[in-house]
Amino acid sequence: MKHLVWRSLVIIESVEILGGSDREGHKEPVESVLLSMGQVASVVGPTGSGKTALITDIELFAGGDTPTGRKILINTLPPPAEMIDKPSSNPVAMITQHTNFLSDLPVLEFLKIHANIRKSGEENEVTRRTLEFANQLTGEPVNPDSSMTQLSGGQARALLIADAVIIGKSPILLLDEIENAGINRTKALRLLKRHKKIFIFVTHDPRIALLSDLRIVMAKGAMKYVIATNHNEKELAQKFADVDDLALGIKQKLWAGEIMTNTGTTSKLDGFTSDKALITGSFAPNLRPIPSYPEPTLIDKAIGLGRVFNWRSS
Ligand SMILES: Nc1ncnc2c1ncn2[C@@H]1O[C@H](COP(=O)(O)OP(=O)(O)O)[C@@H](O)[C@H]1O
Ligand SMILES: [Mg+2]
Repeated sequence: MKHLVWRSLVIIESVEILGGSDREGHKEPVESVLLSMGQVASVVGPTGSGKTALITDIELFAGGDTPTGRKILINTLPPPAEMIDKPSSNPVAMITQHTNFLSDLPVLEFLKIHANIRKSGEENEVTRRTLEFANQLTGEPVNPDSSMTQLSGGQARALLIADAVIIGKSPILLLDEIENAGINRTKALRLLKRHKKIFIFVTHDPRIALLSDLRIVMAKGAMKYVIATNHNEKELAQKFADVDDLALGIKQKLWAGEIMTNTGTTSKLDGFTSDKALITGSFAPNLRPIPSYPEPTLIDKAIGLGRVFNWRSS
């Protein structure tokens, strides 16, 4: 499978995070998390809980040498030095709200040069697919002739993701809170799932968390819970997306200068309950599947507290 083969011909099959310590130096409750190729994970928790630190450990292939003391294994082994030292062999692409392109070339020219350097395939075809992908992620289509520095935040982030997926063929993609960047996140998740990779989303968006295969719940700098998304929760994500779409519709009406009326629609997420998650020592979804949202803000809080969600359709 060509799309799994990355530069140095090492095929990435898994990434494992071995637990270290929390901010106070105590051993973190989750001892290990194994993510297999094709899985999507979310990292959730309040600001300051250590989400960025966790994915930075992955980006840096931590070997017990970061403030968290965590270790990252690739295909169950410490990553080869080449993977860490050679940028072209690095399988990880990390995109944050602040990641940007350092180039003022026109978009199309930049993509062609990058596609050539990365030998990603026929130049015109690859750049066309990259632009098409980016335009599906952002509401404001990217003009191939505009300069890279003229792109809006959302356009730049969309192009970065598309570039990492299609041109860079990065097998591991880390996305740190791209929610405010004008990216259609649920669409991104759906599109990204078609490309077999390991995706890790740091997110405050309950839909992303509930559409992921699993979520890592952070607290005080530690991985506190790892929860596999259950069937109920996936249904809940759809329900929640409907409410979100309703809210977006109201916003768009306001922007269009419309006068609002009450149509009697209720957006209550009736029937949601949540249970406390079980603390899990280690987590390997493929080997050992582990069983297991009122107003949106409560849902957010519940996710951060490591709740497992149930949806009763009655
Ligand atoms: N396990 C840890 N050990 C030591 N320091 C940590 C740990 N986890 C996070 N930190 C530090 O705590 C601060 C907040 O963490 P951060 O990852 O930025 O939180 P978040 O992204 O959830 O807002 C940062 O300065 C980070 O370096
Ligand atoms: Mg952060």
